[in-house]
Amino acid sequence: MFEELSELTGFAIIATYGFTFAFYVFKFIFMKFGARLKQVPKLQKTLAWMLKFLRRFHRLTGILTIGLILMHLVLMVVDEGWNLTGLFAAGFMLAEVGMGAALAYLKPKTKTVRIIHRLTAFAVGIAIVVHIV
Ligand code: HEM
Ligand code: HEM
Repeated sequence: MFEELSELTGFAIIATYGFTFAFYVFKFIFMKFGARLKQVPKLQKTLAWMLKFLRRFHRLTGILTIGLILMHLVLMVVDEGWNLTGLFAAGFMLAEVGMGAALAYLKPKTKTVRIIHRLTAFAVGIAIVVHIV
């Protein structure tokens, strides 16, 4: 009955996840190529702006992802029934957001939580691929 809407919520999760993860992609560029980027000030300025933008919305889009998963879950369960790979992806995402919240509000930020938050981000990506392929 809600086939288009339930698929749309699935792709919306991927979009918000992609946006949230992109923060790390830009951070990685600065970590690896920061010194070389200084030689190209215009590019460096643009990328720095992007990094700031992505960092500002990281928490919001991360939380939004959970809201979309709940919508997708309800619509899909009604439409097609339970789905194991979907539940795995959602479980990783829940852990990811929980750790993100710990990172955001625990002081000082521990390196261990940051690294686990980073690795879980990759695990979420793999779980999503398994779910939709
Ligand atoms: C990170 C979490 C999730 C993402 C990114 C995601 C994404 C998607 C996408 C994009 C589709 C459409 C695939 C296509 O049309 O080929 C889909 C289908 C589906 N999802 Fe999810 N989903 C997630 C979690 C869940 C959960 C928790 C459930 C549990 C009910 C679920 C159940 C389904 C079902 C039943 C389908 C349709 C059947 C299928 O194509 O396998 N998903 N999902
Ligand atoms: C889709 C969900 C999310 C993904 C994929 C994700 C991914 C990441 C990644 C890959 C990093 C970089 C880790 C590193 O520097 O090694 C990061 C950093 C961080 N994340 Fe998330 N995250 C998500 C949700 C959240 C949420 C919901 C919050 C908070 C409520 C959060 C808070 C943080 C904080 C505070 C940092 C460190 C920021 C900094 O270095 O300035 N994350 N996240």
